[in-house]
Amino acid sequence: MKKPHAKTYYVRGGKPLRGEVRVSGAKNAATKELVAALLADAPVTLHNVPEIGDVRVTLEMLAELGAKVSFENGTAVIDVRRLKTEKVAEAFSRKNRIPILLLGPLLHRFGKAMIPALGGCTIGARPIDFHLDALRKMGASIMCEKGFYVATAKKLKGAIIDLPFPSVGATENVMLAAVKAKGTTIIRNAAVEPEIMDLAVLLQAMGAIINLDVNRTWVIEGVDSLHGAEHCVIPDRIVAASFMVAAALTGGDVFVRDARQTDLLSFLNALRRVGVPFEAREDGIRVTAPKELQPVVIETDVHPGFMTDWQQPFVMLLTQAKGVSIVHETVYEDRFGYTDALVKMGAKIQLHSECLGGKPCRYINHDYRHSAVIVGPTPLKAAEIAIPDLRAGFSYLIAALIAKGKSKITGVEQIERGYEDVIGKLKSLGAEIEVK
Ligand code: EPZ
Repeated sequence: MKKPHAKTYYVRGGKPLRGEVRVSGAKNAATKELVAALLADAPVTLHNVPEIGDVRVTLEMLAELGAKVSFENGTAVIDVRRLKTEKVAEAFSRKNRIPILLLGPLLHRFGKAMIPALGGCTIGARPIDFHLDALRKMGASIMCEKGFYVATAKKLKGAIIDLPFPSVGATENVMLAAVKAKGTTIIRNAAVEPEIMDLAVLLQAMGAIINLDVNRTWVIEGVDSLHGAEHCVIPDRIVAASFMVAAALTGGDVFVRDARQTDLLSFLNALRRVGVPFEAREDGIRVTAPKELQPVVIETDVHPGFMTDWQQPFVMLLTQAKGVSIVHETVYEDRFGYTDALVKMGAKIQLHSECLGGKPCRYINHDYRHSAVIVGPTPLKAAEIAIPDLRAGFSYLIAALIAKGKSKITGVEQIERGYEDVIGKLKSLGAEIEVK
């Protein structure tokens, strides 16, 4: 697999995207499932693993720990029988959010785990207090020493964990610790995203006893050991939504193969309300050019709500809708920073710290600019833009695809962390993009 290097995208706008694109496997399922392989006492095989930066980093991290790793044509095989260390190298600090999930599996293996400080997108404070509090409740002792979290536990034990917010990462972290803990773990107010469901499916295939109960509650009975398994990662619902918006906004006609309607329900409702025609089929979703886009009010939320990672492409749609739209971001406090560049390109977007357009969220009475008012339609003009984070990155690509002139986009390694062969796929749909 090729390593990414510093590149720049030059995008000439104005070409409608037409044809077919296949959605790759979900980054936010695949990376966690690679970590789950650490719990098995025989090889785990994952299919439909996307060839993206975050997968490469996760595979390198497992290999550094001593795992035998192979990755070819979307199939990864992880064999951790000869794992040699409980310490994740400092080189993996600040690359993504995955290392913290290794705490449980390494504790089970070595009784000790050392994890470097975290990275990922800069879209808010992104603390890990829920993760640490939960693991402490399960019997781990965790300290922070010289940029590392150092955890020890002779044997993790089941516990009742009440999450203050349905955090995706914290839910996964507790799951990965609970499947081999002594006794039963109950995670209340947990996240239930499709990617977490997919992780649960893999864990069950590996021998775990794991159940989703009513009211966002996971119940996990610890078992002594987990075996190898073979599993196919679900398609990426964020990548699917991103391509659908790009197709609609460029006035194109694209069949997004493998996009799953069940995972995209809230997104497709919003798409319909805004006026984008789509046809959902068993094998994918076709999006065609809208006649006129209508303004809407949307609020991001945890699953099954409108996900925060759809917000950025959707804001792009709203810059071209006729009238005033509102987007209330309730998952992250600081996820609109990317809109400055869109304003520079001609979009009319204003940010407010009030909870606009919906119910008050946990950011009420804070100074976080987490509501956006978007007035459209405004033609966009090409610009030089630097990508601040992964999802903003695809939105900038969409902006450049509909702008007049040639845009220069830097910081593209952010996009390549999460979108497989993004330029190859856009070019195959007719986009005019040069990579230098
Ligand atoms: C995951 O991040 C995803 N990342 C994010 O996708 C996604 O936006 C997010 O879930 C929400 O769906 C991965 O799966 C790798 P959270 P995660 O814990 O797990 C607060 C992308 O582009 N919180 O659900 O880090 C937190 O600050 C990325 O693919 C605490 O306060 O998100 C946030 O406001 C971006 N304390 C909220 O909870 C904690 O200990 C939700 O975060 C943990 C979280």
